[in-house]
Amino acid sequence: MTTAYPVDPLRALPAEAYREPAFEVDLERIFRSDWVFVGTADEVAEPGDYVTTELGGQPVIVQRRQDGQLAAMSNMCAHRGTLLAEGHGNTKRFQCPYHAWTYADDGRLLAVPYATRDDVDREAHCLPRYRAEEWHGLVFATLRSDLPPLGQRFAHLDSIAVDADLATLNHWTARRGDETWDANWKLVVSNAMESYHLFKVHEETLEPYTPTAGAYYVVGNADGTATGGTSSRGDGDDYTLLSLPPNFVGVITNDSLLWQAVQPISWDRTRIVTGAAYRSPPADERRGMARLATMVSAAATVMVPDFLPEDRDICERGQRAADGDYRPGVLVPMEQVISDFHHYLNRQLHGAPTPAARTAAVVGLPRAAEPVTQ
Ligand code: FES
Ligand SMILES: [Fe+2]
Repeated sequence: MTTAYPVDPLRALPAEAYREPAFEVDLERIFRSDWVFVGTADEVAEPGDYVTTELGGQPVIVQRRQDGQLAAMSNMCAHRGTLLAEGHGNTKRFQCPYHAWTYADDGRLLAVPYATRDDVDREAHCLPRYRAEEWHGLVFATLRSDLPPLGQRFAHLDSIAVDADLATLNHWTARRGDETWDANWKLVVSNAMESYHLFKVHEETLEPYTPTAGAYYVVGNADGTATGGTSSRGDGDDYTLLSLPPNFVGVITNDSLLWQAVQPISWDRTRIVTGAAYRSPPADERRGMARLATMVSAAATVMVPDFLPEDRDICERGQRAADGDYRPGVLVPMEQVISDFHHYLNRQLHGAPTPAARTAAVVGLPRAAEPVTQ
C-alpha cells in the first residue's frame, strides 16, 4: 500500500493528493472503509426496489428487501464474478445473466443450473452482505461491519435535518443530473462545500442570490459540517449547506434540497450526480427545465442561472495543475468546512484523532447574525 499523502487541517491539500498513487489510498481507506452516500430513500421505497453502486470499486446492490429492511450486498456473482444487476429496478431475486445462478434478496444462493448440491456448496457461495442505512431520506452504505450507525455519526447535525424536515421532501428522481468531470473527487467535493468562491467563480450566477459575504459557519467536525448563508433577498430565507464527507453536499432552503454527490472514477476523473427534492411535488413542467439550478422558496420562485459549468471549469483547472508542486496555502476562516474535511481525511488516511463538533462561537467564526464582510 502506498503511503498516504500528508494532510494539514489548516492548509490546502498538496498536489500529490490529486495524483494517481493517492487514488488507490483514497479508495481503500475512504470509499471501502466508510459510510458512502449512495442515493435517496425514494429510490428504494418499495419492497424489491434496488439501486446499484460502487463502494471504492466494489460493486454493490442496495435494496429494500421483502421484509422492509434496507440492505446491501455484493453485486458480483459468486460463480465467476459477473455483475448481477445494473442501474436500478425492482426484483425479489437476482439471476445472473451468465449461467443463471440465482440469489435471494438476502444473498442466499437459491439455484445452480446443471449442478447438484454436491457440486456446489450453496452456503459457501452466498453473496457477501453489507450495511445500508437511511438518514433523513439520504441512503448510505458501507462495506464495514464495525462502524457506528449513521444516527450516531451525524448526531450533531440531526436538529438541522429535523428542522428542515428533510425526510419528507419529495425527491425528483427523474430529473437527476449525471456528468463526469476531469478532476479529482476531493477537488470537486471540497469546492461544493465552501462558499468562499461564490463571489469570484459565480460572480454573475450565484453571488447575486447567495453572496459570499453572507456566508457563515454553524457546526461541524470531521463527520460532517453545516454552514449557511443569507439570501440577498433579505427575507430571512437563509440557506444551509450540509457537507457529509466523503461524497455528499446538500443545500437546504425553506422548502427544497439540492444536492451533489461525487463518485471517484480515477485519480483525475469524477462522476457528479445532482438531485433535487421539494416540499411540494413538482407540478408544472416549467420547473422541469431548471435542473439543479432551481431554487424554490416558500415566498417566491427564483431561477438562478446554471452555475455548475463554472464549478466544473475551476475544478478541472485545479486538476491541470496537479503535476506541479507548491507549498499548500493556509485556509482562510471562511474555509473552516474545508478544515473539517481535512480532519476527516486525516482520520481515514492516518488514523489521526479528530476534534469534537464545534459551533461557530467555538471556532471564532461569524454566525448568522453577524455576516462576514469581504
Ligand atoms: S458468472 Fe454468474 S452464473 Fe456464472
Ligand atoms: Fe461553486
